[in-house]
Amino acid sequence: MASRFAGKSIVITGGGAGLGRECALQWSVEGGKIVVTDLIEDRAQAVAKEILAAGGDAIGLKTDVRIEAEVEQAVGAAVENFGRLDIMFANAGRSLPGGPSIEDTTEEQWDDVTNTVYRGVFFSGKHACHQMKKQHGGNIVVTTSAAGINAYPVGFGAYAAGKAGAIGLVHSMATEWGRYGIRVNGLAPTHGMSINFALPLDAPVLNMSYEEFALQESGEAWHDDRFVGPLKVGRPPSLKDNAAVATFLASDDSAYMSGLVIPACDGGNFAMTSIPFPKTWSLEDMAASAMDEPAS
Ligand SMILES: NC(=O)c1ccc[n+]([C@@H]2O[C@H](COP(=O)([O-])OP(=O)(O)OC[C@H]3O[C@@H](n4cnc5c(N)ncnc54)[C@H](O)[C@@H]3O)[C@@H](O)[C@H]2O)c1
Repeated sequence: MASRFAGKSIVITGGGAGLGRECALQWSVEGGKIVVTDLIEDRAQAVAKEILAAGGDAIGLKTDVRIEAEVEQAVGAAVENFGRLDIMFANAGRSLPGGPSIEDTTEEQWDDVTNTVYRGVFFSGKHACHQMKKQHGGNIVVTTSAAGINAYPVGFGAYAAGKAGAIGLVHSMATEWGRYGIRVNGLAPTHGMSINFALPLDAPVLNMSYEEFALQESGEAWHDDRFVGPLKVGRPPSLKDNAAVATFLASDDSAYMSGLVIPACDGGNFAMTSIPFPKTWSLEDMAASAMDEPAS
C-alpha cells in the first residue's frame, strides 16, 4: 500500500458522506491525519470513529462552511491536534434537489446554495492560506462540478453559478498564493457521484453513486447502455473514480500542478457537444433535399 499521505495533516469539509468520506477513509489508510468536518456533526464523528477503529488518526468536527468562524476553527483544530495543515480539501456542497428555475429562485435559496459551494470555498482557501503561508507551502483541493463548466438541468442555476465561481477561485487562489508555495487545484465530478447529494441531510449515508444505487434498486445486472456517456467500461461509475482524481491532486503526484480543474469521471461526455434536431428530421433527408435545390 502506498503511503502518499504519511504524517500529513488534512482538513476535509463535507467529509461525513460521499466523496469527502471516501477520501477521508482512503487518505487515512495512507497515513493521513484527518480533521473530518461536516455540517452534520454525527456524520463527521462517525467517519472519524471509523478511521480510529481501523488504526488511523482523525477527529470529527461540526463545521458549516457558510460560517467563516467555523472554517477558521477547523483549520485551528488541525494545527492543535496534528501540528500543522498540509492539505485542505474544500469539498462540502449541496443544492436544492428538484429546485426552482432561476426565475423562481428566492434570495434565501440562492444564498443558501452559493454560500455553501462558493463562499465556503473562499473561507476554506483563505484560512488554509493563513496557516500554509506560515509553513511555506501547502495544497488546496476544491471539489467543483461539471455544473460549473456546463449547465445542469432546470433547478441547478444557483448551484451551477456557485460552482463556476469556485472554479474562478481555484484559478485566482493558485495565481495569488503560488508565491507562498501553496498550490490549488480542483476536480469537477460529472458521473459516479454520491446519491446522498440528492437526499435530505438526515438520510442515512449510503456510500454509493447514483448509478450504483439505481443498479441495486433495479436488481438487474449492469449493462453499458445504462451509461449516458460515450465511454463503455462494463461497470457503473463510482465514488472511487472521483476519489482517485482527488487523491492525485491531494498527493505529491501532482506536485507541479496548480490552478487546474480536472473534469473527473467524465465518461467521455466533455469531448462532445450536442447539436439536437427534432427526431423527425434526418440529416440524410436534408442532404438529399439540398442536392435537389436549384442553385441560387
Ligand atoms: N453528487 C453529485 O451529484 C455531485 C456532482 C458533482 C459535484 N458534486 C460536489 O461534490 C462534493 C461532494 O458531494 P457528494 O456528492 O459527496 O455529496 P454528499 O451529499 O454525499 O456529501 C456532501 C457532504 O457535505 C455536507 N454539507 C452540506 N452542506 C454543508 C455545509 N454548509 N457545510 C459543511 N458541510 C456541508 C453534507 O452534510 C454531506 O455530508 C460537493 O461539493 C458537491 O457539490 C456532487
